[in-house]
Amino acid sequence: MPRVHILPSGTDLLADPEENLLKLLRKHQVPIRYSCRSGECGSCKCFLESGNVTLKTYDPKALPEAQKAAGVILACRAVLHEDITIRLTDSDDLITHPERNLLCRVVALEPLTADIFALRLHIEFADMEGIPFTFSAGQYAQIVVNVDGHEIARDFSMASTPVDAEYDDILEFHIRRTPTGALSSLLGGMIRPGAQLLVRGPMGTSYFRPRHEGPLVAVGGGTGLAPMLSVVQTALDNGKLEPVALFAGFRNQADVYGLDRMEQMRRSYRNFSYHIALDEAQDGDPPQAVHRPLGAYLLEQVTDFAGAKVYLAGPPGMVEAISASLLERGVSERDLHADAFYPPVPAAQPVDA
Ligand code: FES
Repeated sequence: MPRVHILPSGTDLLADPEENLLKLLRKHQVPIRYSCRSGECGSCKCFLESGNVTLKTYDPKALPEAQKAAGVILACRAVLHEDITIRLTDSDDLITHPERNLLCRVVALEPLTADIFALRLHIEFADMEGIPFTFSAGQYAQIVVNVDGHEIARDFSMASTPVDAEYDDILEFHIRRTPTGALSSLLGGMIRPGAQLLVRGPMGTSYFRPRHEGPLVAVGGGTGLAPMLSVVQTALDNGKLEPVALFAGFRNQADVYGLDRMEQMRRSYRNFSYHIALDEAQDGDPPQAVHRPLGAYLLEQVTDFAGAKVYLAGPPGMVEAISASLLERGVSERDLHADAFYPPVPAAQPVDA
């Protein structure tokens, strides 16, 4: 069995042959950043100090050739065959919640727009009996359904807060229904009030850092608003005193949702503000909306990111472009917590590391 020696902690883990490195680390609750789990975001980088792994295909933007040559690997694409030593970086503020299996019942399916739905689930049964399900605001989970003997699993971020889950056993997800979406097309059909679903999670490391002192900027595109609502609500409810700003971007007014919740937070917390950007202008747009790309609007409104943490979620193109602009503005990678919603990828051929 391959042995994985982890620095700087000095921990040793035994892996199954051909086991995925990120899966092994998560199974043992080793704190490591990750997001897409498909080699596209680069957040699971670590140093391979000795030994070899096989890397499944990945986006070269996530792991440039020069970094790979310097010994950096992507844990989510690394397959274990032999003993290795890895070094994890920057694990100071990582929290790990054990990944759980939850049997949930649909208690509501509420249309937020013509094609975006709020799916509210009640946790009826959780493994690890007696231990409440916990997650950090901003994390996501997998919703799993079985269709004709085939499992369909898709990742969605929680729009509800950790308190909703821990005390009321409630989870809420915002899902855009598309006719070809393997899971989303089942909304209103197989996935309707009363139906039972399996949820696995929590996952993801772009979550709210409660120890951070300084301004919080949350940026959500489309249904990327869901985890950002959870992040800002949690920050404000936890008594954060510094400015908290939420930027939400939508294609047009038909896509806008969440205004009531944002308005309620604005009325309740003097340090909270929200900003709406629409790509297209139409008659009847919300009065608070401006018409320009979300990233441009953000950089116009926030001219000084000193001491701030920025949380980002949404389509990959938007998240990558805004992240690049923020890094250029001097925001450090440590203070940028980005979760891009990559579509599921088909199985791919491995390449040697
Ligand atoms: S590249 Fe590994 S989690 Fe995204």
